[in-house]
Amino acid sequence: MSLASHQETITQLRDEINRHNYLYYVLDAPEIPDGEYDRLLRELQSLEAQHPELITIDSPTQRVGAAPIAAFGTVRHRLPMLSLDNAFDDAEVVAFDRRVCERLAVEAVEYVAEPKLDGLAISIRYERGQLVQAATRGDGESGEDVTHNVRTIPTVPLRLMGSGWPELLEVRGEVYMPTAGFEAFNHRARASDEKEFVNPRNAAAGSLRQLDPRITATRPLALFCYGVGEVLAGTLPDNHFAILEQLKQWGFCINPEIRRVSGVAGLIEYFAMIGEKRAALAYEIDGVVYKVNSLSQRETLGFVSRAPRWAVAHKFPAQEAVTTVLNIVVQVGRTGAITPVARLEPVFVGGVTVSNATLHNADEVQRKDVRVGDTVIVRRAGDVIPEVVSVVLSKRPGDTLPFDLVKKYPACPVCGSAVIKPEGEAVARCSGGLYCAAQRKEAIKHFASRRAVDIDGLGDKLIEQLVDSDIIHDPADLYHLTQEQLAKLERMAEKSAANIIAALEQSKTTTLARFLFGLGIREVGEATAQALANGFGNLPAIMAADETRLQQTPDVGPIVAAHIHAFFQQPHNLEVINKLLAAGLHWSDVEVTETVLPLSGQTVVLTGTMATLSRDQAKERLQALGAKVAGSVSKKTSFVVAGAEAGSKLTKAEALGVEVMDEAGLLALLQRHE
Ligand code: IVH
Repeated sequence: MSLASHQETITQLRDEINRHNYLYYVLDAPEIPDGEYDRLLRELQSLEAQHPELITIDSPTQRVGAAPIAAFGTVRHRLPMLSLDNAFDDAEVVAFDRRVCERLAVEAVEYVAEPKLDGLAISIRYERGQLVQAATRGDGESGEDVTHNVRTIPTVPLRLMGSGWPELLEVRGEVYMPTAGFEAFNHRARASDEKEFVNPRNAAAGSLRQLDPRITATRPLALFCYGVGEVLAGTLPDNHFAILEQLKQWGFCINPEIRRVSGVAGLIEYFAMIGEKRAALAYEIDGVVYKVNSLSQRETLGFVSRAPRWAVAHKFPAQEAVTTVLNIVVQVGRTGAITPVARLEPVFVGGVTVSNATLHNADEVQRKDVRVGDTVIVRRAGDVIPEVVSVVLSKRPGDTLPFDLVKKYPACPVCGSAVIKPEGEAVARCSGGLYCAAQRKEAIKHFASRRAVDIDGLGDKLIEQLVDSDIIHDPADLYHLTQEQLAKLERMAEKSAANIIAALEQSKTTTLARFLFGLGIREVGEATAQALANGFGNLPAIMAADETRLQQTPDVGPIVAAHIHAFFQQPHNLEVINKLLAAGLHWSDVEVTETVLPLSGQTVVLTGTMATLSRDQAKERLQALGAKVAGSVSKKTSFVVAGAEAGSKLTKAEALGVEVMDEAGLLALLQRHE
């Protein structure tokens, strides 16, 4: 082949690879499987290896530069990178809009509303369509030259696509680490005893500030563009929204949640909409940004000191806050696990006042060395229980003492039984079993819960009241409650008492799997309970099985088998089971599936919403085929079913290369095997 024809093939391959990159990252609509993409890239690599003189800096093979750099250079921003004023509530947004309208002497303004990503601001310069320099924001006047690292980010074009770009184009945006990538990174770091990142923002910053681009290349970074800086010799549209659309055509990722909205009502509505979506987004945001759309209006408005008058950041309430530990107490859970809890000076975090935060277990308190009197950082993420993240050591008073859970609680604070912390385990437990009122309450709550025998309307508070007043001692006692007994309780109306009696009656018709799950045997979750029901068909067979026989059930290993066996050896447990059966709990025996089920050994994760199946229905049908349905994606996941608006689990699956199927794919699979 002549050099000219080599050159032509190479150019074609580069164009094709760039196009697939764009389809994949920007449009989210890949046309070829990953394997095919890799094949194209390898072909290009091999052609370039034969003709190194044809390698150009913007070739898709050249994302990772050869050598680490010695130190970061400084880049002066020709147009300063401004910051944003903040608004913390609706009133401040209304005030912002009023100022804008007054200065422009108009009734209402068109805005562009965007998620405010929690990453790192970046400026990337393109000369004649080629990436020439990337710099961090720094102090806004000058930042660090991180060109070598930014080039490794797959969503950053090395060469602009299409045509019509200005001679010089400076694009600005946010480099971020998607939540799934962040979690996977920390998971690996933990496993290899390396330092974890505190949050995705630090992870993005730390990854960009690497001297060796090969390290940055392994970090799952991405870029969303939100504007332009310097533009020379060329024109751009006269409004922000159209500029973003143009940038998308040149190959940049633009956040798909960005909207044009009108007036202040549009802003507030957008804020609520994004707030609701926030937990499902694949990346962390700390608020939204409102920007006047028209560039000429922006010019009229100008800026004050470091922030433009034409934009404002509407922040979500903080997710982390600083407060002090007033006391450390413990709670006893269903399995006797003793959980230390920090009682805090009440503090407003993530929209609510928090006065308790979990310290997880005996080892965690010791690792974080949290003490009464300490100043701590507490975090509240989504719906999860607030936790103590770390201690601000510089603020520790002189007279604090380490909190040693095992020393402080040799006996269970609820029942007085010995507390045991086996060697190598992080958790200390009360050994009282169902003798312990705390464990009894939790066991009864678990038995009555929706996924177990599902006693509608029997709330936690009511169960606690019933146990505390010695009316019930175990789940079976529930079925001897009378309407009169219930109606006598505090805050209980005649009607609710009747409803509970009816719900109890209804819960007697159940399934073997729900019943088994409801017993609360350690390590026996819903999937294991289902597997036991499928494998044995009836309760007496499970109760009589030895550990070896139990281990023939999918997913039952030696530890779980030992827990199951031990449970059925306990006279007290047998007594409760007999009482439940005598009270009338019943189910149809399950047909034993001797043959291996079609999806045995497969682990499936469901995410997003499906149009024809509820999550529970999909789960039940998959389990009936022998699959295990798990809550989180890992390398061991066989496949992920992604419905509409699938979020971080989908991103994680993609990051780990786990197979993903949509609802139609799932239905076809179920149909094939049912
Ligand atoms: S616009 C003059 N848009 O927020 C306007 N900034 O406090 C400059 N940020 O340094 C920024 N998402 O790192 C803009 N959609 C978005 C943003 C965003 C995140 C960050 C950016 C900037 C900081 C300003």
